[in-house]
Amino acid sequence: MEIRVETGSVTTFESDVLLVPVTKGDAPLGNAARVDGALGGHLADAMRRGEFKAGRGQTIAFPAADGLRCKRVVFVGVGAAAELNPEAWRRAAGQAARAANRGKFQSAAFAPLDDAGFGAVTPEDAAEAIATGACTGLYRFIEYKTEEDSREPSTLTVLTLLCADGMNHVAMDTAAHAGRALADGMALAMDLANHPSAAVTPRRLADEAAHLAHEHGMTLEVFDEEQMQAMGMGGMIGVGQGSAEPPRFIVLEHKGAEGAPVVLVGKSITFDTGGISIKPSAGMEEMKGDMSGGAAVLGVMRTVGTLNLPLRVIGILTAAENMPSGTAQNPGDILRMHNGLTVEVINTDAEGRLVLADGLSYAQKYAPRLLVDIATLTGACVVALGHHAIGLMGTAEEAKADFKAIGEKVGERVWELPLWKEYHDDIKSDVADIKNTGGRPGGTITAGCFLSRFAGDAPWVHLDIAATAWDAKATDYLPAKGASGVGVRLLTGMLRKLAAA
Ligand code: BES
Ligand code: MN
Ligand code: ZN
Repeated sequence: MEIRVETGSVTTFESDVLLVPVTKGDAPLGNAARVDGALGGHLADAMRRGEFKAGRGQTIAFPAADGLRCKRVVFVGVGAAAELNPEAWRRAAGQAARAANRGKFQSAAFAPLDDAGFGAVTPEDAAEAIATGACTGLYRFIEYKTEEDSREPSTLTVLTLLCADGMNHVAMDTAAHAGRALADGMALAMDLANHPSAAVTPRRLADEAAHLAHEHGMTLEVFDEEQMQAMGMGGMIGVGQGSAEPPRFIVLEHKGAEGAPVVLVGKSITFDTGGISIKPSAGMEEMKGDMSGGAAVLGVMRTVGTLNLPLRVIGILTAAENMPSGTAQNPGDILRMHNGLTVEVINTDAEGRLVLADGLSYAQKYAPRLLVDIATLTGACVVALGHHAIGLMGTAEEAKADFKAIGEKVGERVWELPLWKEYHDDIKSDVADIKNTGGRPGGTITAGCFLSRFAGDAPWVHLDIAATAWDAKATDYLPAKGASGVGVRLLTGMLRKLAAA
């Protein structure tokens, strides 16, 4: 779908379907009232009867009438005007785009919310959110569907954001472009996580990184087992050694500026069986998404490349498949990690922290201005925070505060957990420097403590997306099932902030 920005009015702009936002209240205001006037007041009736309450993402559609240059009108709720935020716009746009597509229309125009204003949201932020929400609202993963009715492509090919007088057309265009770039990054992340592990192997992730490098002029280094062995990456080797699919350590660099980079490290376990500490079979298929951290990093790199951010960004994927086999590591094995620390493997299912440890340690060579890892790391994170928050830990105080604010804005909220000394005591080992689990209590935190031992002096933030990467979010602009692309908006938000500073 192409996103355009044009200056025009709701009554004269020509498109198949007109998408008109409505704020909560007794009656339509602004453009909604103007369009409803042409329709004979059906929307006002529906609002009076309480049939349409203009809740976020709620839609009601009418055939067009004289005085409008479209075939159909879809009104979409954005909730209370006083509570408007980018999330309201993403949700409304997702449902509006779906309604237009369901009607098999090809072009849609999204009316601005003029008289009622944008609340605390700037028109540019609204445009960005609308572009993202409309695109991700139409996302589907149909590569393995063969039956025609489930393969039907989206009909909607053009979405025009109407720019009202007084809005900055160039800024609106830039914002819509950014919103689109974010949706494209999310789509890549969702595709990679939705594909089965037979398709997305560590080597395939390296191919994907090579594709991005080619597309956006980035540099790429991919290390194989021999090279990882030589670099002393005991975590990567230990986790990967049980699989017939060889592990890969992938380093992708966007050099939009000189100087210390931001380094993003994504857990990329292409399938997590648990290894010898094997998982129960119920729901294990979801562990094809255990590379969602790495998928988010690649998604971010795609967005960063499209936007050509003036920032140096390095994305690292620690890719391996965690399998039980005769060559797999056993509980009790001791690994020597890239930074020299020794780790007793108590549970081979706590594999994410082992590969990330080598990624964080390797990142030290860049002396990063900010080091962030993102991972579907702990089931305990689901227990602690449910499906509505990303677990956040780390040492970079300023970045943590920024993530909290950015998370609110982009609709990927984070919640901080502590890394107190008492939790560190839980991962002391009798035979090695540390062990890879601290037992059930505080499982998300002890995993964070483990990672902190490999983050060196870098200002570091850890994001646990175990609860948000899969099936987890409001569905107004995300598919109800499968990968969510979580992390792409949050991390890109941080990178844009750093690039602007
Ligand atoms: N990939 C899992 C965590 C996970 C669980 C992600 C559920 C998404 C949904 C991770 O590798 C894992 O198995 N963690 C263990 C750690 C434990 C053995 C200390 C867990 O959370 O049970
Ligand atoms: Mn595991
Ligand atoms: Zn895992």
